[in-house]
Amino acid sequence: MNYRHSFHAGNFADVIKHVTLVRILDHLALKDTPFRVIDTHAGAGMYDLRSDDAARTGEWVDGIGKLEKVRLSPAAEAVLAPYRAALRELTPFEGHYPGSPALIQRALRSDDRASFNELHPETCHALRRALPRDERIVINEIDGYLAWKAQIPPRERRGLVLVDPPFEKTDDFDRMAEMTREMARKWSTGVLMLWYPIKNPTTVAHFEASLKTSGFAKLMVVELHVEHIGQAGPLAACGLAIANPPWKLADELSLLLPELSKRLARRNVARWRVDWLAGP
Ligand SMILES: C[S@@+](CC[C@H](N)C(=O)[O-])C[C@H]1O[C@@H](n2cnc3c(N)ncnc32)[C@H](O)[C@@H]1O
Repeated sequence: MNYRHSFHAGNFADVIKHVTLVRILDHLALKDTPFRVIDTHAGAGMYDLRSDDAARTGEWVDGIGKLEKVRLSPAAEAVLAPYRAALRELTPFEGHYPGSPALIQRALRSDDRASFNELHPETCHALRRALPRDERIVINEIDGYLAWKAQIPPRERRGLVLVDPPFEKTDDFDRMAEMTREMARKWSTGVLMLWYPIKNPTTVAHFEASLKTSGFAKLMVVELHVEHIGQAGPLAACGLAIANPPWKLADELSLLLPELSKRLARRNVARWRVDWLAGP
């Protein structure tokens, strides 16, 4: 287990993942009844962009760094606004970037709950330090692929499972496809959001084929490409698969991504995609 998210925090992949996460959380909070969020691969919760790790890759400079000082069109900014507001609120000191647990904690109301699973002991320790003490939250130093099974369906019956593994192993796509089938069986009304790197189109095509038969009636995929895939160097493209997305999310991302992809493109390569694998 060598992966450290501190090398990648705030990069283009974090931007699209966290913009989408914040929109889903906002949508869950529209109803009064409580919700539960399960983050299977939580990370450290907060990242110092001035750290040696972040400086070594400089990935955040091509991600949140490119967005900090520009303004997109009013329509695209309206989609970004909740994400920008979350960053402002969570990182009042320059040079920090929040991870998914901090974004989730911020979205919880008094009766909402969250479970954060993180296997790496030091990272889990950092997560406990990063989040203010909170009775609504449980942090487990545990294998998220195993733990989540006992965490669904939650008693709230509304909520989100976020799956964001490091993709250090070759079976992460298979495990995520299996999770999707299990989620459809055990908690078919919950929202499931999977993040994945796009390095090999054939692998992604197989993954999408397995998602299509997972049992969810509503399943969309989102892609953001900032460079041609297959190039050496940092990640060039990533995807999100979202089961039971909020009803406006596809329209919102279709509005945002043409502009966001241009802003985040490296070497003028910008591509994006929002497609339904099932439904709507
Ligand atoms: C991509 S990072 C998570 C980033 C985080 N979700 C965010 O958006 O800020 C993946 C994390 O999963 C952790 N990890 C690796 N294998 C795991 C496992 N089997 N169960 C839980 N966590 C794991 C790694 O230590 C790493 O912190």
